[in-house]
Amino acid sequence: MKVGVFDSGLGGLTVVQAITKNFKGAQIFYIADTLFAPYGQKSKEQILKHSIDVTSFLIKKHDIDVLIVACNTATSAAIKYLRQEFPKLIVIGTEPGIKPAMQNSVSKRVGVLATPATLNGEKYQLLLNKLSNEHKVDVFEQACEGLVEQIEDGKISHKETFSMLSSWLKPMKNNSVDTIVLGCTHYPLVSDLIKEIMGAKIQLIETGSAIAKRLENLSLQNGHTNNGELSIEVFYTGEIKKDMINMILQDWKDGGKIVVRDINE
Ligand code: DGL
Repeated sequence: MKVGVFDSGLGGLTVVQAITKNFKGAQIFYIADTLFAPYGQKSKEQILKHSIDVTSFLIKKHDIDVLIVACNTATSAAIKYLRQEFPKLIVIGTEPGIKPAMQNSVSKRVGVLATPATLNGEKYQLLLNKLSNEHKVDVFEQACEGLVEQIEDGKISHKETFSMLSSWLKPMKNNSVDTIVLGCTHYPLVSDLIKEIMGAKIQLIETGSAIAKRLENLSLQNGHTNNGELSIEVFYTGEIKKDMINMILQDWKDGGKIVVRDINE
C-alpha cells in the first residue's frame, strides 16, 4: 500500500503521527509544500493549483493508492476536484471536528480555530449551518493568521506565539467555551499553549485519529493486510525545520528510518 500525504508544511505530520499508531505494511510519501506555505491566506484557485501539483507528483513518481489531504484548507478548496480528476485514487480529506465538539461541549459554547480560507470556505459554512440547526450551541470562530508561519518557524513554545494565541482565545475564555476545534493540522502542535491559556480542562478536538481510522478501514476493504514495515519519506518544496520532523513523530518508537529530501533532488 502506497499512501501519499500532503500539507502546506509539516503540520500534516500530526496526521501521520496518528497513522503510525496502528498502520503497518505501507510506504508513506509526505509532501510539505513549504514553497507555497501558508495556504490559508491564498485564494481557492491558488490552493487548488498547489493541491493538483503535489497530487500529480505523488501519482507520477510514487504511484500512490491512497491520497490523504492532511490539510483542512486544501480539503476545503480542492477535495471535490481531486476526487473527480483522479477517480482511481482513494482520497481522504481533513475537516474541522465541529460535530464531535458540539456533542462534547457541556457549556454549549464551542470555539473553532482555523485558517481564513477554511473559515470562509463553502464546505465549512455548509457544515456549520447544518450542525447549527441540529445543536443549540454558540460557536466562536477565530482565523489564526500567522500561526502556521510561527509553527513552521519552530516557535512552538515561544512567547510571541503565546501572546498571539492569548488575544485570539480571550473571547472564548470570557464566554466559557469548554471545547475548541483545532481546524488546522498545524494547531495540535500548540496544544500545550492553548491549555496553558484556557486551563487544563479545555477539550481540544483534532482529527488525526479519525483520519487514521478511516485509512485503516478503507485500506482493509481494498485488500491491505496491515502486516510488515511502515516507511516514511518526507519531501519538501521550500524551507523546512528538519528537527521538527523527529519532534512530531517521536512517538513512532518501533518505526523505521525517516528519509527526508528536497522534492527536486
Ligand atoms: N495545516 C493546514 C491546515 O490544516 C495549514 C494551512 C496553511 O498553510 O495555512 O489548514
